[in-house]
Amino acid sequence: MTLPDHYAVFGDPIKHSKSPRIHKIFAEQTGQTLEYKAQEVPAEQFSEAVAAFFANGGKGLNCTIPLKELAWAYADVKTERAGMAKAVNTLALQPDGSLLGDNTDGIGLVTDLMSNHGVTLAGSRILILGAGGASRGIIAPLLEQSVQAIVIANRTLDKAINLAAEFQHQGVVTGCGFSDLKNQSFDLIINATSTSLSGQLPPLPEAILAKNGVCYDLAYSNEPTVFVKWGQENQALKSLDGLGMLVEQAAEAFFIWRGIRPKTRPVIELLSAERKL
Ligand code: ATR
Repeated sequence: MTLPDHYAVFGDPIKHSKSPRIHKIFAEQTGQTLEYKAQEVPAEQFSEAVAAFFANGGKGLNCTIPLKELAWAYADVKTERAGMAKAVNTLALQPDGSLLGDNTDGIGLVTDLMSNHGVTLAGSRILILGAGGASRGIIAPLLEQSVQAIVIANRTLDKAINLAAEFQHQGVVTGCGFSDLKNQSFDLIINATSTSLSGQLPPLPEAILAKNGVCYDLAYSNEPTVFVKWGQENQALKSLDGLGMLVEQAAEAFFIWRGIRPKTRPVIELLSAERKL
């Protein structure tokens, strides 16, 4: 009998994580023998917990809030996309014993938008709300899709300008404050602030969403987030939350670890159906 390989997600809080469920379904679907657990790890205990996990035979880890930057610093080697994101959500043990750090969040978002929802990114004007870690992780993968321009709007203006400056060599990226958004419109507005979790919304001028524009909240919840509701009220063609991105980033991590790409659609459909119950 083959003993299962061990994987886990570390975060704080982690109780409500859907990742163990998602990876269990992926494993069943692809016939892989593995275990995947959720472990609450406060930031102060991160290094110790990661070292113990791999010393005990662990093969790969996902890291979520507030550990992604710590995982980035911990990884021995990083992929280019993780380097740009300055955050790692996937650690993979390599044959030589080193730890590879990758970031699958951005590709998870792009795959969800393009493959699952048929959104055309090429040539589009994109507004990203927020200039924290969540925003940083998605900018390069969006630029790779030949978008026309990305505007980053943030409450703290300096952070938006500095973040935009880091990506300017890759495409048209500018930073501004929310009050600078008047008289502009966007094909896609992505909420990457942490406001959905607190039930608040950044101030957005009327008509900022272009006709047939799409809204996407990186956060997800069993109820529509405040930003998803805003999109619905503002006639978005689609107003989506981050459930699909969550499943897609997990599929990419699964591929890094196991070399097999699981089917995501049935998992997204299952999790979506459950929250409608
Ligand atoms: P994350 O890693 O999830 O991006 P973060 O780095 O703390 O978290 O960034 C949170 C983002 O949400 C920031 O852009 C923050 O704006 P500031 O840079 O001005 O702090 C934004 N944010 C949080 N609360 C907000 C609020 N009430 N209104 C507008 N933006 C808010």
